[in-house]
Amino acid sequence: MEDGSRVVEARKVDLVFETADGPVHALSEIDLEINKGDFISLIGPSGCGKTTLMRVIADLEKPTGGEIKINGMSPEEARLQRAYGYVFQSPALYPWRTVEGNLKLPLEIMGVEKAEQRKRAAEAMEMVDLIGFEKKFPWQLSGGMQQRVSIARALTFYPDLLLMDEPFGALDEIVRDQLNEHFHKLWEQTQKTVVFVTHSIPEAAYLSTKIVVMSPRPGKIIDVIESPLPEKRTLDMRETQEFLELSHRIREGLRAGHSYDWAKYLKWTGSVPHHLFRLQPYSPLPRLSGMQLQSTSILRF
Ligand SMILES: Nc1ncnc2c1ncn2[C@@H]1O[C@H](COP(=O)(O)OP(=O)(O)O)[C@@H](O)[C@H]1O
Ligand SMILES: [Mg+2]
Repeated sequence: MEDGSRVVEARKVDLVFETADGPVHALSEIDLEINKGDFISLIGPSGCGKTTLMRVIADLEKPTGGEIKINGMSPEEARLQRAYGYVFQSPALYPWRTVEGNLKLPLEIMGVEKAEQRKRAAEAMEMVDLIGFEKKFPWQLSGGMQQRVSIARALTFYPDLLLMDEPFGALDEIVRDQLNEHFHKLWEQTQKTVVFVTHSIPEAAYLSTKIVVMSPRPGKIIDVIESPLPEKRTLDMRETQEFLELSHRIREGLRAGHSYDWAKYLKWTGSVPHHLFRLQPYSPLPRLSGMQLQSTSILRF
C-alpha cells in the first residue's frame, strides 16, 4: 500500500470521557485503516462510539490514548487543511438563506471569492441533482432534498474525505432508498473516501466497501467486513444471496456485541430491571450525546 492512499490510520485509539457520573469509555483500542476511495460504514447500537470516532477523525475530540493520522497528518493539521466535509443527521440549514445561500455560507466564511463561490455551489447542486432549486428556501424542500443540500454543502469544500453521521437516519424508507442509490452513484463518480454512520443493516450492506461493526461499553470494533459485492450496485441486488449473507454477518456481529453487553450488565447488577425489557433491541440505555439530542428535533417527511 502506497503511503498516499492511506486516508485514516488509527492505532489503539482510546477515549475516556470524564463525567459527573464517572468515566465513560467511549472508544477502546480502535485499530482502523481507511484507504483512498473506500466507503466505510460504522454500524452499532447507540452509545458504541460511532459519533465519537467520527469526531476524533475530524479533530473535534482528542483521543486519550493511541495514535491517529489523517492523510499522514495529525487530525489538527488535516482540519486546518480542510481535508474533510461533515454531514450531520439533521440537515442544519439556515432557514433565512436560500439553498444557494446555504451552500455559499461556509465559502464566504473561508474568504473564497464570489465567482468561485458561485461555481462551486453550481457544481455541488448538479452533483446532488438539485438544479433549479437554488432560489428556494430550505423549508420549501422535502426532508430528502434538504439532506441533499447538506451533502452538497459538504462537497463545496472539495473534501477528499466525507464524514457522514447517520445522514439518512430520519428519512422514510422510500426516500432513503432513493438517496442511497443516488449517493452511491455520486461516490462512484467522485471516488471520494466516505466514512458513514448508520443503524441500518441494508444501508450499510448496500453502500459500503467495508463495514465496521462496533459494540458499546467500552466502544470497540468487533468485526471488519470487506464487502464481497461488486462495486456497481443496484437496489435489486438486495435480494441476492450474496447480499443476504453479508447482511447476516453484520447482524451476527451486532448480536455478539449485544450478548457481550448484557453479560457484563448482568455481572454488574446481578439482575435485569424489568423496565429494560421495553427498550428497543439496538438502543440499550443510551446516554445521549449532544449530537443525538440535536438530532431528536428532526423534521420527518
Ligand atoms: N462529550 C461527551 N461527554 C461525556 N460522554 C460522552 C460525550 N460524548 C459521548 N459520550 C458518551 O460516549 C459514548 C459514545 O457516544 P457516541 O459516540 O455518541 O455513540 P454513538 O454515536 O455510537 O451513539 C456514550 O456513552 C456517550 O454517552
Ligand atoms: Mg451518534
